[in-house]
Amino acid sequence: MRIPFIAGNWKMYMTRAEAKDLVEGLLTALANVRDVEVAVCPPFTALDCVSRLVANSRIALGAQNCYWEDKGAFTGEVAAPLLKEIGCKYCIVGHSERRQYFGETNETVRKRILALYKHGILPILCIGETLKEREKGQTEKVVLTQLRECLQNLPPERVVKTTVAYEPVWAIGTGKTATPQQAQEVHALIRAEVVRMYGKDVAEGVRIQYGGSVKPDNIKELMDQEDIDGALVGGASLKVDSFAPIVRFAE
Ligand code: PGA
Repeated sequence: MRIPFIAGNWKMYMTRAEAKDLVEGLLTALANVRDVEVAVCPPFTALDCVSRLVANSRIALGAQNCYWEDKGAFTGEVAAPLLKEIGCKYCIVGHSERRQYFGETNETVRKRILALYKHGILPILCIGETLKEREKGQTEKVVLTQLRECLQNLPPERVVKTTVAYEPVWAIGTGKTATPQQAQEVHALIRAEVVRMYGKDVAEGVRIQYGGSVKPDNIKELMDQEDIDGALVGGASLKVDSFAPIVRFAE
């Protein structure tokens, strides 16, 4: 049985003061939630403040990116050991915004995943097709190529603890959600590919989140799908009033 997993991707929002308000609100609103894992992924500048607030709570801490070297002259980058020290359990890698604006490739995503594995941080690997690719009928090819290239030749005992976030690029921040059927179809393809790469046991353990305009009013029908194990939530994760109900519906 996979435990549902809801993660909030705060992107480049939230001062530390705003982060404090949000997390305090979430700690209260989610105090009685039991059967779902919750993580928040603040910008680097708020990690320390949020780490203190969520210590010993049900909310886990995640980062939004990391560099693959442990240390060195890499101005502006943040390494996995630094994220570990600050209390990160998770780290998002390969988000479409990083692929689109910052030159992230499947190869650099894979290097980041290896660095995270080395330091005991659990990756949330984002994959997904653009609208153009979907319209050309290339969804399966694009998504499975990303999956294969990012996850090839990795230790199975780590892969099983990796989360894959299927985020159709056309659904991110647009208010357009994939229908539960469209999402389930791709989630099933992803799980089948993990079976081919690592076998059934690993594939049964890997959690596959859906991401792209997830809101309190669409989470339930998404979670009802067999292969949807949670959600990576952007916009709606920035307010207690929208994130807390998403977590509760996922329970
Ligand atoms: P959204 O973002 O929920 O605002 O569409 C999701 C994401 O980019 O992870």
